[in-house]
Amino acid sequence: MTMRVLSVVGARPNFMKLAPVDRALVKRGVEHVIVHTGQHYDPGMSDAFFEELWIPAPDHHLGVGSGSHARQTAGVMQRLEPLLLDLRPDLMLVYGDVNSTVGAALVAAKLQVAIGHVEAGLRSGDWTMPEEINRVVTDRLSNLLFLPSRDAADNLSAEGVPNDRMHFVGNVMIDTLCWALPQALTLGAAARHGVGGRPYVVVTLHRPTNVDDPAVLRELLDALGRLAAKAPVLFPVHPRTRNRIMGLGPLRADGGVELLEPLGYLEMLSLVAGSALVITDSGGLQEETSYLGIPCITVRPNTERPITCTHGTNRLVLPRREPLLAAAERALGRRSPARPVIERWDGRAAERIVAVVCDDVRFDADDAAASPAPLARRAAAIPVPLGAS
Ligand code: UD1
Repeated sequence: MTMRVLSVVGARPNFMKLAPVDRALVKRGVEHVIVHTGQHYDPGMSDAFFEELWIPAPDHHLGVGSGSHARQTAGVMQRLEPLLLDLRPDLMLVYGDVNSTVGAALVAAKLQVAIGHVEAGLRSGDWTMPEEINRVVTDRLSNLLFLPSRDAADNLSAEGVPNDRMHFVGNVMIDTLCWALPQALTLGAAARHGVGGRPYVVVTLHRPTNVDDPAVLRELLDALGRLAAKAPVLFPVHPRTRNRIMGLGPLRADGGVELLEPLGYLEMLSLVAGSALVITDSGGLQEETSYLGIPCITVRPNTERPITCTHGTNRLVLPRREPLLAAAERALGRRSPARPVIERWDGRAAERIVAVVCDDVRFDADDAAASPAPLARRAAAIPVPLGAS
């Protein structure tokens, strides 16, 4: 009988992770049902990604939309339950750490539908982040844990997760990047945005800790405005951030920061690949810049992706004007770093996931998890942000 796998996605960063998995499952002849929760619904945050990444239109749309965490998560749960009861998939896949991920996992676990978590085992250790709660709960409920990097095995082992649930498959975000890069490089996005041939900076900020407090947001915009005097700053603005910026009142016209609508995947990749520096609080961009060898400043006190600091190009900086400006100027003044090579960030993670799902192949992370002092090694790898007093 044909195997039925159901993927639940809802927010922008889920779509890049779904695309290569969908292609690999379909290639294997698996029946792949796609459910979109509707957590992200603006065309620029959702439809554009399905089109560009060649993901078929979702089979089911739950239309959950925006709301508080409880409302959004509960909306996913209420609307997914009857569908899972009806479809009874052999496996449900969830992606990343958004509210749709944890909502879907809770429903499937109680219906005893097997769960696979793509991008499992990442931990920031910061329980003030809703995503950290989503990660821990989703991993605890999942039968198959697909790890993007070895440090994830240490995190899961420290929580008592048995090794046989873990599969160190690599990073599906990088699968999509490898797939899309040749096309993105032909777009010439920098020239179209008027910054061709010059070093420029790309910015994205959307985390509540950076944009919800007007004082913090003002300080960050001020730093970016000053940076723009040295190099053009392009800032595609997430709807949440746009609402907050509008709440600040009219922006000073001399800010010099180019505020753009959210960009599609290919255009964003084209811009990032040609940039001299990325300033962000996104998880995916920490990984993409590391793969591309583009310097990245992450405006956060911690990261669930420490490998991007220890092996990649990422640097943590607290959301404060002076440290951010100093770090950005330093990064712009340096020669580009060599392009790092990170284990299993090679464009084949989805292929490995499908080998696990369809053929029971194992991709052990045991050698990392079974090493004598995983906790000590983890502590040594925790990056410290600039600006911490
Ligand atoms: C969510 C994820 C976050 C991820 C981010 C990527 C959670 C807890 N957070 O945060 O991990 O990094 O997606 O984008 O799941 N909005 C729109 N149109 C949309 C979507 C959102 O206008 O299509 C606005 C609404 O005002 C909404 C706000 O953005 O209330 C926040 O959206 P939400 O999905 O709750 O969280 P994100 O900040 O996008």
